[in-house]
Amino acid sequence: MASYLSATAVLSLLAQANALVRPDGVGRLPALGWNTWNAFNCDIDASKILTAAEQTISLGLKDAGYEYINIDDCWSVKSGRDPNTKRIIPDSTKFPDGISGIASQIHDLGLKVGIYSSAGTETCAGYPASLGYEKIDAETFAEWGIDYLKYDNCGVPSNWTDAYTDCVPDTTNGSNFPNGTCPDLTNPAPAEYDWSTSKTAKRFEAMRDALLNVDRTILYSLCEWGQADVNTWGNATGNSWRTTGDITPHWERIAEIANQNSFYITYADFWGYPDPDMLEVGNGNLTLEENRAHFALWAAMKSPLIIGTPLDSIKEEHVSILKNKYLLAFHQDPVVGRAASPYKWGYNPDWTFDPAHPAEYWSGASSALGGTLVLMLNSEGSKKTRTAVWSEVPGLGGNGYRVTDVWTGEDLGCVEKEYSVELQSHDVAALVVGESC
Ligand code: GAL
Repeated sequence: MASYLSATAVLSLLAQANALVRPDGVGRLPALGWNTWNAFNCDIDASKILTAAEQTISLGLKDAGYEYINIDDCWSVKSGRDPNTKRIIPDSTKFPDGISGIASQIHDLGLKVGIYSSAGTETCAGYPASLGYEKIDAETFAEWGIDYLKYDNCGVPSNWTDAYTDCVPDTTNGSNFPNGTCPDLTNPAPAEYDWSTSKTAKRFEAMRDALLNVDRTILYSLCEWGQADVNTWGNATGNSWRTTGDITPHWERIAEIANQNSFYITYADFWGYPDPDMLEVGNGNLTLEENRAHFALWAAMKSPLIIGTPLDSIKEEHVSILKNKYLLAFHQDPVVGRAASPYKWGYNPDWTFDPAHPAEYWSGASSALGGTLVLMLNSEGSKKTRTAVWSEVPGLGGNGYRVTDVWTGEDLGCVEKEYSVELQSHDVAALVVGESC
């Protein structure tokens, strides 16, 4: 049978064989939603979250596919669990109707709701977390009507610390890197070490098993910053797994993360997705070009697309980036699970690891688009020309193709051999290369 399948199809089946498969297709495709953290950090309450849910509908984001409204850190009473039930207690000032109250309001709007905890004794902001309480917390979340759990990596006690250290570089966050081990990686694992046997993997598996035991399907999103070689076991443990430390609304950080994640892109397929962190579209001083390059790269990588900006003040130009129908169709392709991948680095020789200049030329097959998505990024600080040459793009052997511009929707007609475009600094061209002509 395998001899009738392409190499890509075989790889894809192997990845899925090992994946965490959930009922009703939950986690089969990368998640679409909104989260409190990049927008508000700890300054959250029920009204802000309800506003985000209502805006998701009125801005047309729900119709575009965004469905999860996720509560991040800082939702509970900081001083500790209920002494009798051992449950985490929702902060009644921030959430007067509890988490179950906001969850049912979000459900009434036809959306789903997410919550946050950590595989440690405390969350990153110092609130009670789930290590040792996985069963109680999973049952509580299920009872409240939770549909999505983001599970972080803070508050790890010394008896749960791994013998070896592993992390991904983070040059722009510096000492703010959570539990920052990367700058002083003192005890790297031997080459043959299997990180799926590590204490880190066990901490995250404990919550997976607790979630599998409750009577509700809760999407499981791992957030352990790419440590402990998570790409090798994340797929069997969660529906997505963070591959880096935290994003910030700065192009330098977005480029650094895109570069890092590009080297894990073959791990993306149905039921399991490397997660380069939530979106910063609409935040900070990102230019329009940087906002759309960020979104196009994240969509092409089939990252979970979790919006992180206040939706009651978002600019129309940012909403239209988030609703781009071609990029969302590629991202949510029901037939092709694999992400786009670099076919040429461009600014650098192929396979160069460069935090400032990620791969510039990407392509990915798409059944939903009836062709190939091609991205061309200008990673440089000034205006440059980039050229997609059809003969260089995997799967495109012909001379001419019908091309559509993803940003304008314009049909560029039959384009022969190659397509050149002048790009502002940090802008991306995005094309659907369709039927041959
Ligand atoms: C970090 C995580 C962020 C956010 C924050 C909350 O570890 O990567 O996305 O959840 O904790 O304190």
